[in-house]
Formats: sequence, C-alpha cells, structure tokens
Amino acid sequence: MKIEFMQKNLSAIKADFELIFIQEKNSKQLNAYKDFFKLYNYKGEGICLDGANKRLFVELKSLNYEDIRLAFFNALKSLEKLNVKSVKTKSIVGECVVRSFASMAEGVIFARYCFDRYKSEKQPSHLEKIFFSQEELNAKNFSKEEALIGLHRGEVLANASNFTKDIVNEIPQIYTPLKMAEDAQNLAKTYKSISCKVYDEKFLEKEKMNAFLAVNRASSYPPRLIHLSYKNKNAKKKVVFVGKGLTYDSGGLSLKPADYMLTMKADKSGAAAAMGVIKAVAELNLELEVHCILGVTENMIGGNAYKPDDVLISREGVSIEVRNTDAEGRLVLADCLSFAQDLKPDLLIDMATLTGACVVGLGEFTSGIMGNNENLQNEFYEVSKKSGEYACVLHFNPHLRELIKSKIADVSNTSSSRYGGAVTAGLFLDKFIRKEYKDKWLHLDIAGPAYLEKAWGYQNFGASGAGVRMCVNFLIHLLRKAK
Ligand code: BES
Ligand code: ZN
Ligand code: ZN
Repeated sequence: MKIEFMQKNLSAIKADFELIFIQEKNSKQLNAYKDFFKLYNYKGEGICLDGANKRLFVELKSLNYEDIRLAFFNALKSLEKLNVKSVKTKSIVGECVVRSFASMAEGVIFARYCFDRYKSEKQPSHLEKIFFSQEELNAKNFSKEEALIGLHRGEVLANASNFTKDIVNEIPQIYTPLKMAEDAQNLAKTYKSISCKVYDEKFLEKEKMNAFLAVNRASSYPPRLIHLSYKNKNAKKKVVFVGKGLTYDSGGLSLKPADYMLTMKADKSGAAAAMGVIKAVAELNLELEVHCILGVTENMIGGNAYKPDDVLISREGVSIEVRNTDAEGRLVLADCLSFAQDLKPDLLIDMATLTGACVVGLGEFTSGIMGNNENLQNEFYEVSKKSGEYACVLHFNPHLRELIKSKIADVSNTSSSRYGGAVTAGLFLDKFIRKEYKDKWLHLDIAGPAYLEKAWGYQNFGASGAGVRMCVNFLIHLLRKAK
C-alpha cells in the first residue's frame, strides 16, 4: 500500500475515488453537499457512499489524533468492499502536523490488517494507493517536511504494531519459544543495526535463572532467553525493554479453568511488543541504544511441573515461595529484569500480560503503568495518550507490600488478598529491582488491550499490538528532551 503526500490541489490528483471527511459542526461543508445529503438523509454521521460521483463521505468527530485515526480506518474499511485501486483526500491536520500525518497513516494501515492465515477464503484487497493533497494547508505553520516525517513515522509505527499482532495472533502449536527465537534472529538479518543472541536452558542454569527455569519445566519445548540489541552511533541513552514471552499459559498445576485458558496464546504479547518496538526504532534510526530481553517459555502441566509450595532461588538471590503456578509471568520477569539491570540501562521498561486483575480494574482497553518514579510514570502517561494507546498510572501503595510477604521465603508469588492484584504483581517485580534502578524502571501491564475478544474503534478482533506505539513515542519524546 502506497501512501503519498502531494503538493497539489485535490482536483489535480488523479484517483479512482475521493474521501470527504465531514465534521458535524462544519456548516460550510454540510452546505456544500446540501442536496446530496438531503436526498440520502445524511447528517454527517457515519459513512455515506456516493457511487455515481465516486466519493465517500466519512464522519470526522474532531481533529483529535484518535478521531483522525478512526475516520481513516472507517473510510478504508468501507472502501474494502469496492473495486477501487486508488483514492485521494484532503489532508486532515489538527494541532501538530507530524502527529496528524502519523495518525492518518496509522488509520490507513490498521484498516488493512487482517489475520487470515487459516481461512481458506481470503478477503481480496484492491486498494493500492492513497494520496493526501496539500489543499487548504497553506497556513503559516505547515511544512512539507513535517508532513513527510509524520507519514513515515505513522507507517513505521503501524507496520511495527501489525508485526507484533502477527506474532501474538499466531497459534501456540506453531508459535513455540523456538519460533520466537527464529523471528528475533530474522529481525537481526533484516536490519543491519539490530543484533540478536539466543540463549538456551544451559545458559539459564549457568546464570542461576531458577525462577524462569521452573516455569519451563513441564513444557515439551525448551525455554529461550532472547537478547536483541540496537545501537546508533550517536546514542543519547540506553533503554532496555523486558518482555514476558509466554507462548502458552495453561496456568501450570494451578490449572486455569477452560474459559480462562482460551486466548492464552496471547501471553507472549509483552515480548512481541518489545520486538515491534526495536523494529520501529531501527526503521526510524533513533539516536539511542535499545535492548530487548525476552523471557520465552510455555507454562504447562506434567509430572515434572513446578509446584505450589516450591521455593525458588532467583538470579537476584531473592527466594520466592510459589503459592500459585499461574502467577508465572512475574517469575520469568524477575530473572529477566535481573539480567537486564546488568546492562546498566538509563531506562528500564518491562511489558507483560501480567494480571487478570489489571483487566478487571482498568477494562479491556487500558494498560497499567507502574513503578517508583511518579514523574516518569506521569510523563509516560501523557505520551501514551497522544500515541493512541490508553494507559493509566496505578500507584504503589506501600501497605500493599504486606500482602506478598511469605512465611518461609523472601517473597510470595501471590498476594494474600483478592484485591489489588495488578499492584501487588508490580510490587513483586519491584523486589527484583536494585536500588540504583528503582527510579529508572517502569512496569507496563498490557493484559487488557494486548488481545481483544471484540473489535473496538480502529482495533480488530485479536491482537492489538499494545505497547508498541506508546513505547516508541516515549523514546521519541526522550530524544526531544535530550536535545
Ligand atoms: N497471563 C495471566 C494474566 C492474564 C489474564 C493475561 C487475563 C491476560 C488476560 C497471568 O499469568 C495469570 O494467570 N495471572 C494470575 C495471577 C494470580 C494467580 C495471582 C491472574 O491474574 O489471575
Ligand atoms: Zn498465569
Ligand atoms: Zn501468564
């Protein structure tokens, strides 16, 4: 799909179809198409097709980035059913030119995403090109360079999100830890600036990553610790991402009920998002050093499974009482966070589908942001809002620390209370963060938005690529601040 910005008026651009975005409050616009709208009883809401004149009217609720994304998504979805190869539109620009163009591209590319690998009948897609015209954009604050930067950024972010979606949507019988390692190595083959190391169980043993190894024990696939790195020669900061990569979470001996097990192929979303982030970082050539540490395994049952009542000695030396084998993500992350801190990051971010409690608390659309540094959390929240991802800061209440105390070990892997499960999981991870990194660490619980059982807005059913856009936008924000 080619997305092109043209310094021409709309009438000078040749295309099969035209998109017209209608803002309800724009009476000038409503007036211009008065007769047509009257005939079709269209008041500017939703979608209205004018086949005879080869144009599609699409509602644009406001010039907010999220509404721009949605309008373009809806437009492209409607065009899918038609045999249209090229389409043109005026560019829709809100407060910031770069973000507006990025949002248009995101809406277009998200509309094209479809996981139909296992469908015999695939939906054909005819559309090949979309042109954004410069008409009405001659205002003083508009620059072509910004438009092009925005388009490129939007394309990179949306493609990286779709790459993450493909990994998350892939089925567990195919997507094993070995497959994730292969995909990571392929990233390194594709991008000169990315390198990849894959470690096996022997390395994990040598590194004393006993919590991670325990989770893997009953799986018929070996675990993998994947280390992706990207280094720009003008790197201003070192950022390390840690991703939960459970290619399947059955719950282990604390087995999940059937209804809750379904969708647990998506428990690899944190690792998949980290892979999407580093892919985008490489394509945008950001002046950073970025590492991804991915803890990849299944959580299964069997005679050699780890058990509730076991005590595990983690890589940090902190002993963990296992009270529920379904709280496995925090065990894998504990050892991966330990490994990640050895890289001496300026910023450490983990992403994980960690708790059902986060979904209960925030709903299916929103990620939880946790950590010890309120300024960092608030800054991340502000960026996430503009990036098109919903996120919410969950504070570490010090009294909740009591709930993960163990009578026989340094910490318990489950809380003694039914309440506050997202925060107590975050507090568990905090046990493995060294003093010097406390303020440099963010924990993102993406359990809600990572995998959608119902489509909403411009998100299809299934994986959503949660984490990718907010993290990459945060990296761009960091660089802008460093200037
Ligand atoms: N992978 C799940 C969390 C999850 C739940 C992700 C729903 C996405 C949707 C995690 O490993 C888990 O099972 N957590 C338990 C923890 C509990 C046993 C303390 C949970 O949330 O129930
Ligand atoms: Zn679990
Ligand atoms: Zn899990």
